[in-house]
Amino acid sequence: MRLFLDTANVEEIREAAALGVISGITTNPSLAAKERIGDLESYKAAILTITKLIDGPISVEVTALDTAGMVHQAEDIATWHPNVVVKLPSTVDGFKAMAVMRKRHIPVNQTLCFSVNQAILGAELGVKYVSPFIGRFDDEGQDGMEVVKDIVEVYRTQKVRTQVLAASIRHPLHVVQAAKVGADVATLPFKILMQMTQHSLTDVGMAKFTQDWKNATGGRR
Ligand code: E4P
Repeated sequence: MRLFLDTANVEEIREAAALGVISGITTNPSLAAKERIGDLESYKAAILTITKLIDGPISVEVTALDTAGMVHQAEDIATWHPNVVVKLPSTVDGFKAMAVMRKRHIPVNQTLCFSVNQAILGAELGVKYVSPFIGRFDDEGQDGMEVVKDIVEVYRTQKVRTQVLAASIRHPLHVVQAAKVGADVATLPFKILMQMTQHSLTDVGMAKFTQDWKNATGGRR
């Protein structure tokens, strides 16, 4: 399972890139707004900076609600950089826009996916990624991972090429579970990536190695 970072924060991306485990980025209007990005021009400037840090797919979401508006924005976004993937929502207008993207050969990340049926529609429309939102399901008292598992099973059975991108990840256990059910990608907030690096026994072990070496060398390095 590949790991993407779910952020529009350039500093987080810079730090995560140094770890060498991040192969793509996902953004959305909320994440952009958090970075005080308030129009498509500044969204574009941020994305171009990000493309210099991560050489992989960078998802950029449309903000229009109707098909014509989505297509107009998507066609522009697709020209920003060859690595850009256009994020379109799982709505009737979004699916119609995906149909246009397929004709234009523009790669799509189908976002806000909450059912296997929506994922089947995306697959029919040839989207590159489908993004089931795990955490938002869990917030409603449902098991979001079950939907990821079912989409993976249907796609494998039907030999679908669309990749399952586990999104709305809220804790490190989601990452483990997404990997176990066979998601192709998980997109993580920076905080979760940092949590993945940590274990208290690693800290205890490091402290002991350091102390034992200090004792043995009398403090010389
Ligand atoms: C995915 O592409 C979305 O940007 C993201 O994972 C949404 O996560 P949230 O539910 O924590 O906002």
